Amino acid sequence: MQYFFTDEQKTIKDLARRVAEERILPVRAELDENEEFPWPVIQDIAASDLFRIFVPEEYEGLGGGCLELCLVMEEFSRVCSGVAISFAASALGSYTLMDFGTDHLKKKYLPDIAAGKKLAAFALTESTAGSDASAIRTTAEKVADGYLINGTKQFITNGGEAELYTIIALTDKSKGARGASAFLVEKGTPGFTFGKKEKKLGIRASSTCELVFQNCLIPEENIIGKPGMGFIMAMKLLDKSRPGVGAQALGIAQGALEAAYDYTRQRVQFGQPLVTQPVVQNMLADMAIQVEAARSLVYAAARNADSGSKDYTESSAMAKVFASDAAMRVTTDAVQLCGGAGYMKDYPVEKMMRDAKITQIYEGSNQVLRNAIAAELRKRKAKTE
Ligand code: CAA
Repeated sequence: MQYFFTDEQKTIKDLARRVAEERILPVRAELDENEEFPWPVIQDIAASDLFRIFVPEEYEGLGGGCLELCLVMEEFSRVCSGVAISFAASALGSYTLMDFGTDHLKKKYLPDIAAGKKLAAFALTESTAGSDASAIRTTAEKVADGYLINGTKQFITNGGEAELYTIIALTDKSKGARGASAFLVEKGTPGFTFGKKEKKLGIRASSTCELVFQNCLIPEENIIGKPGMGFIMAMKLLDKSRPGVGAQALGIAQGALEAAYDYTRQRVQFGQPLVTQPVVQNMLADMAIQVEAARSLVYAAARNADSGSKDYTESSAMAKVFASDAAMRVTTDAVQLCGGAGYMKDYPVEKMMRDAKITQIYEGSNQVLRNAIAAELRKRKAKTE
């Protein structure tokens, strides 16, 4: 299928594939087994300048959009989505600053993010606020010399490893989601510590950690955008980042399809390679259709987000939901096609199946996103009535 990439986009995709094959592939099993944060690989990615992709040129980035980030995510995830999400979470942690922060804050933080010297993270989720993100309880009280943050954020990707955190906290508890604001908090700020580090089913190279704020004083200038706009900014951020989760799922599915195809060509049973069996060919064909349909929707959603369109909630949600469901199906079938070998850790497909699961859960569970898609349908219908 032709996707009409520019020469620059083709170069980015090729570079990401090279980094994935040369730097990530040799260590992926070890990173997964040891649940080890991939710092050496992060340094290799930084050396390749791929962290610059999502940062604007005036802050030492390359000014890429959602599509360029998706191309990198797809290539990294084809090999190891734990590394891929550690990379992309830095974009997630920086987008609110890029889109709504002051020039002063952008100059202060973005060049190091672009260089990959520092990682960023985004913190919305709390123990009482998962799908119901507006139920957050972390507070940011205005005091004479800044804001005093109190509360605990849960399941934060890059938690403990990132230097810079975009957090959503309530500046006016009485207003609920409408009283939330966004802030930047640096690692090492007194009153900011790390709690439980999670042990996970998949994406085990990535770090997932609690953030604990106890009377953590941050300067007034570290607020991003206007007080009270934090929830809306978070929702807009997620609209922008969800095609990236779709690309993560797409990459996982592509990797699983390739691994299953190679296995069925080599594995001989009943005197013939498995791939000669029609039942196996049917499964491979269905997997290939799922992967290509996911790819089309992810690229279309990323292009829509980059188009300047004000509202891309629906297309982003559709791409994330479809690609993650496809990844779960394709990786499960890949394990099936590889049989006993597929179930063993010597083959990559069981890791891909474990990794695929989170793409149906984070950055909006597929259930809550289906609600959002249905709400858009209702809105459109109401307009025509
Ligand atoms: N863009 C702009 N504004 C939006 C919006 C969007 N996409 N979605 C909602 N809003 C606005 C609404 O217009 C509404 O504004 P008003 O108060 O002016 O009416 C306000 O936000 C509240 O909207 P809803 O009433 O629809 O929201 P709700 O309180 O019912 O909450 C929801 C529902 C939080 C939007 C939910 O549907 C949802 O998306 N949950 C998923 C949360 C999520 O994605 N969390 C991910 C955490 S980050 C993560 O996972 C990262 C990682 O680990 C890598």
